[in-house]
Amino acid sequence: MGLSTIILAAGQGTRMRSALPKVLQPLAGRPLLAHVLDCAAALSSDDVCVVYGHGGDTVRSVFTDDGLRWALQAEQLGTGHAVQQAMPDTPECNRVLVLFGDVPLLTAATCERLVDETPESDVAVLTVDMDDPTGYGRIIRQGGSVNCIVEEKDAGPEEKAVREINTGVMVCPAGKLRGWLADLGNDNAQGEYYLTDIVAMAVNDGITVHGVKADSWTEVMGINDKKQLAEAERALQARLVDELMMHGVSFADPARVDIRGSLTCGKDVYIDVNAVFEGDVVLGDGVTVESNNLVRDSSLGAGTVVHSNCHLEGSTTGKNCEIGPFARLRPGAELADDVKIGNFVEVKKSTIADGSKVNHLTYIGDTEIGRHVNVGAGTITCNYDGANKHKTVIGDGAFIGSGVELVAPVKVGVNSTIGAGATITKDVGDEELAIERARQKIVTGWRRPEKKGS
Ligand code: UD1
Ligand code: CA
Repeated sequence: MGLSTIILAAGQGTRMRSALPKVLQPLAGRPLLAHVLDCAAALSSDDVCVVYGHGGDTVRSVFTDDGLRWALQAEQLGTGHAVQQAMPDTPECNRVLVLFGDVPLLTAATCERLVDETPESDVAVLTVDMDDPTGYGRIIRQGGSVNCIVEEKDAGPEEKAVREINTGVMVCPAGKLRGWLADLGNDNAQGEYYLTDIVAMAVNDGITVHGVKADSWTEVMGINDKKQLAEAERALQARLVDELMMHGVSFADPARVDIRGSLTCGKDVYIDVNAVFEGDVVLGDGVTVESNNLVRDSSLGAGTVVHSNCHLEGSTTGKNCEIGPFARLRPGAELADDVKIGNFVEVKKSTIADGSKVNHLTYIGDTEIGRHVNVGAGTITCNYDGANKHKTVIGDGAFIGSGVELVAPVKVGVNSTIGAGATITKDVGDEELAIERARQKIVTGWRRPEKKGS
């Protein structure tokens, strides 16, 4: 039997109190729904259908995967009604796995267990025991299997005392599900068509409903408000950091790091406190990231050290580079091996070849720097004329004195020297010295002006 996965994501998420639809709220830097889609993709399911409604176009525009099927639930009349919207294109002979767009930490392994442990013609619900089950549907068992699910708002005192709850994840044969959904009523406290009511219908038809327990409560937590979103964020961060530590990454404090995307690390990587990684980040063997750094969509070569308080985005480094403290690498900063970028230096869309140093208070933009170049403190590549960007090229072995302005487009030759304080507007040839500054005057016996009336 094939498997069709249906993800319910039409709800508004009123309790989020946000203009952003609930399933687009960010968890570890990605929308809630993206995590559920990852889980669905990791399963061997034939088709994945997202039931959407609230924030419709916004939600759809974020997920452009052609393989996804979308079913509109124009009015949110309940979880049963939502599943019904996905049924017309669901193959009759498949099994259906229902996932919730607001249960993002669920793993594919748990879904597989639910699907594999359940005979194909039976129904199974994923459950979990909770210390405080308030708000959830209660699992009512009889002789080991599940007899029905009672929603909190419809539950009597005895049912409310049950601590085993419905996580919302369910597997059932599509053909039978179709029939039960058609028979659903909404005569309940919320006036909704509950998906959970199909459990009693299945039992009535002589079908066994299995209650499979999840290993941990955090994996199946539903996100309804910002507090739960923050709890899920911490739980997911702990999971991501645990995986990295198992791969040999050292963290000064596993609780003080944030990974919002994918972080791939080599051997002997060390990450100090308050490092934030966003997008796709790759850290080579022996990379050290000191405290308070933001690294986004960047790749750092083996042995590179990022000192404290840097901001790196869309940049790459070769081996053994040293960056910061207080440096900024902007998109297109490409450093080769053994490059040093010091404090208060900004590099944008520039290549810097092996062994070059830009150590203090400098802006390098749209520039090509050769090998073993030394750029003095306070140097600025003037790349922008107010309308267009222009390029600066600095040859191998050049020495740029402090406080130099290189007005692009301009070329500085191999092994050339630029005297401190120069404003360079013309190309400088190989091995040449360029000085551009007013001659120094000395006035002897000079008296400073004195303050009037004193
Ligand atoms: C639901 C379950 C409850 C379970 C809990 C677990 C039902 C009736 N109740 O309650 O047993 O313990 O989840 O978290 O199923 N949705 C739609 N269309 C709708 C209504 C909901 O797509 O018309 C989607 C929501 O976007 C959400 C999911 O279904 O992703 C669950 O809806 P929600 O309203 O949060 O259900 P709960 O009250 O939490
Ligand atoms: Ca919910």
